[in-house]
Amino acid sequence: MVPLIPIAERVATLRPTAVNRVLQEARQLQAEGKSLVSLMRGQPDTPTPLPIVEAAEKALRDGLTGYPDNQGEPILRQAVAEKLWRDNDLTYDANREILITDGATGGLFAALAVLVQPGDEVLLPDPIYDAYASPIALWGGKPIPVRSNLRGGRFVVDRAALESARTTKARVLLLNSPWNPTGTVFNRAELQEFIDFAIAHNLYVISDEIYETLIYDGCRHVSPAALSPEARARAVLVNSLSKTYSMTGWRVGYCAAPEEIIRAMSLVWQQFSRGPAMFVQHAAAAALKGDQACVGRMRVEYQERRDAVLRALNGLAGVVPLVPEGGLFVMVDMRGLGMPSDAVRKFLLREAGVVVIHGAAYGEGGEGTLRVSFAGGGTTFEQGLQRLRAGLQQLADNAQKKVLPQ
Ligand SMILES: Cc1ncc(COP(=O)(O)O)c(C=O)c1O
Repeated sequence: MVPLIPIAERVATLRPTAVNRVLQEARQLQAEGKSLVSLMRGQPDTPTPLPIVEAAEKALRDGLTGYPDNQGEPILRQAVAEKLWRDNDLTYDANREILITDGATGGLFAALAVLVQPGDEVLLPDPIYDAYASPIALWGGKPIPVRSNLRGGRFVVDRAALESARTTKARVLLLNSPWNPTGTVFNRAELQEFIDFAIAHNLYVISDEIYETLIYDGCRHVSPAALSPEARARAVLVNSLSKTYSMTGWRVGYCAAPEEIIRAMSLVWQQFSRGPAMFVQHAAAAALKGDQACVGRMRVEYQERRDAVLRALNGLAGVVPLVPEGGLFVMVDMRGLGMPSDAVRKFLLREAGVVVIHGAAYGEGGEGTLRVSFAGGGTTFEQGLQRLRAGLQQLADNAQKKVLPQ
C-alpha cells in the first residue's frame, strides 16, 4: 500500500491538557487494581438546577431540534446582554456584539482565530490554565508566560513583569479572573494596571471569566471591559454556563466584544460548530433569565468545601495551602518539601491513592505547588482529603528526617 501522506504539521504543536494526561495515568493504575480518589477536575458535582433541565425538556418537546441561528439563538443572545448589564455593568448589543459558543473553549478558539496572526505573541500570567497554549499555537501564535509573584499568600502580576515579557510581536493579553489555578480574583486596581499596559502597547485583551460567580469571602468580580470605554473597545469577554450553573457537559458559552470582532468570530464559528444545540441554547437562556438563587447556593457550598481543604492541610511542615479568593481549586505551596511538584504528584497518586495536578503543569511559575480541586464533594471528597493529608504528612516527615543531624 502507498504510505499515507503525514498528517498536518500543525498538530505537532498541540498538547493534551494536564487533566487528560494525568487522567490517562490514573486510568492505567485503576486498570491494574489501584484504588484512587480524585481531587483533580474543575467539574462541579452539584446537579444542573431543575428549572434549567425542565427548560431543555420543554424545548425538546416543542421541537427545537433544528440548526440554531449560527451567531446564537436570539433569545439567548438577549439573555446574555441582560445578564452582562445586570451582573457586570456592561452594555452589549444582542444583535451585533454577542456570539454564542460551545462553552468557553469555543469562545477562546474563535477569539484567538480572529486576533492572532502567525508569529504574534500572546501574553499570559504564569502559572495559568494549560489549555490556552494549544489553540494559540493552532493559529500560529506563541504563548508568552508573564512571571507572577506569590505575595501575602496571593499570586499577583506586576507591571514590570508584563513589560519585561512583552516584545514588539505581542498582540494579545489573555487574562483569567478568578484565575485558574491560583485562585486570585484581580481587584479593580490590578485590572486597571493590565488595561493601562494593554492600551500603552495597543494589545487586545481576552478575558476568560468562567469562574466569575464562584468567589468567596465577599470578593467581587470585575470585568475588565467595564473599567472604561477604552478597555471595552479592546476586550473580548469569554464566559460560559459550565461552572456557574453546573453545566459543563451542556457545552454552552458566550462572547461579547465590539461588533467588528464578533462579526469576524461569527464567520470563524460558521466554519466550525455553528453553535450549541438549539434546545441547549433555550435552556441556557432560561438559566440566565431565571431565579439566580441557585448561583448563591453553589457559592456557599463551594466556600464550605474550600474551607474543608484548608482545614485538612493545616499544620503540615513545609506545606502551606493558599486561600483562593475564587474558583474551584486550592493551590498548595509545598516548596518546603524540597521536591519537584510532579514528583510529589506521582507519589500522591501511587502511594497515597489521590489524584491532584502538579503546579508545574500550568507553567514554570507553578513549580513547587499542587492544585487541589474541591469541585467534587461527599464521601469521595472527604476520603480524598484524608489521603492527601496522609501522603503529604509522609513527605513532610521524610523531609524533616533529612535535615536532622545524624
Ligand atoms: C479557566 C478556564 N477556562 C475555560 C474552561 C473551559 O470551559 P468550558 O467548559 O466552558 O469550555 C475551563 C475549564 O476548566 C477553565 O478552567
